[in-house]
Amino acid sequence: MSGSLRESDLETVSENAGRRGVFVLAPAKVNLFLHVGDKRPDNYHALESLAVFAEFGDRIGLESAPELSLTLSGPFAAQIPKGDGNLALKAARMLRAAHPERALGAAISVEKNIPVAAGLGGGSSDAAAVLRALNLLWRLDSSESRLFEIAASLGSDVPACLLARPCWMEGRGERVKKTNTLPQIAAILVNPGVMLPTAEVFAALNARTGVGTMHPPPANIQSLWDLVAYLEDSANDLEAPACRMRPAIDEALDALNEEPGCVLSQMSGSGATCFGLFDGRHFALGAAERIAHEHPHWWVRATRIAGPDIGVPHWAGKLD
Ligand code: C5P
Repeated sequence: MSGSLRESDLETVSENAGRRGVFVLAPAKVNLFLHVGDKRPDNYHALESLAVFAEFGDRIGLESAPELSLTLSGPFAAQIPKGDGNLALKAARMLRAAHPERALGAAISVEKNIPVAAGLGGGSSDAAAVLRALNLLWRLDSSESRLFEIAASLGSDVPACLLARPCWMEGRGERVKKTNTLPQIAAILVNPGVMLPTAEVFAALNARTGVGTMHPPPANIQSLWDLVAYLEDSANDLEAPACRMRPAIDEALDALNEEPGCVLSQMSGSGATCFGLFDGRHFALGAAERIAHEHPHWWVRATRIAGPDIGVPHWAGKLD
């Protein structure tokens, strides 16, 4: 089940305790290109990127409770912090701190399906989903600008994840703007089983496209081919340093490029996950099956990205 998250989705779901709760999707983010400019006085790099979201992601459960708590599950749960370092919990604490007049709690559960430190914005997307859903669950009515301010203070990718639809990112990534609608694209995500800390990849960067060479996508992008033509002169500047640090990324890109129907392949964010855009779902499914079979230690996922109906605020259903 999917659709926009609304106040009515959070109605009481248990007769005994008057609980309110919901499951929301925190979708994976894919940077279709990422150009890096100069290092700024705050030590972040200026950047420009087109981010889109996948129909695949983490599943976040939120239920009203007297205290704030977090439980983790899913294939990548062991790789993320359980306590204060967890971005979902940080987001909840920051939202609560912005409303000191209310004593607020929530039982948060994160089913961690998105690989960690992988360029897919998993932690950022969890934080953004928590901000959106708790704003409703706690009936805070925080303004959009307040939510975006909290999001930016949590990380450069969190504002884009708060939009969770195709968006143009600039500044250090925190300045985001919804783009024209993009077509839904069949894609696969491939992580060659390696983690990459974002800061280290930026630190290893020695060639940069700079900012100002690309513009947000025009209104007439209606097919994969239009999108690929728009992306023709773009790149991910972090791909070269990431490949030097983890040569397995080159292997993942090669594996994608060998697949029939793969029209474009590139690394997402600071890596190491690479994406392939496919000329049809059947090509993507076949490629995912073959690559997973040939590389049993890689993480491979067929999904759909961009498109008007993909992203949040999406909800996955009420708590049982
Ligand atoms: O903002 P976030 O916590 O995701 O950034 C992680 C690290 O990545 C930063 O501490 C910085 O070293 C690097 N970074 C950067 N320029 C950006 C975004 C991130 O140098 N625009």
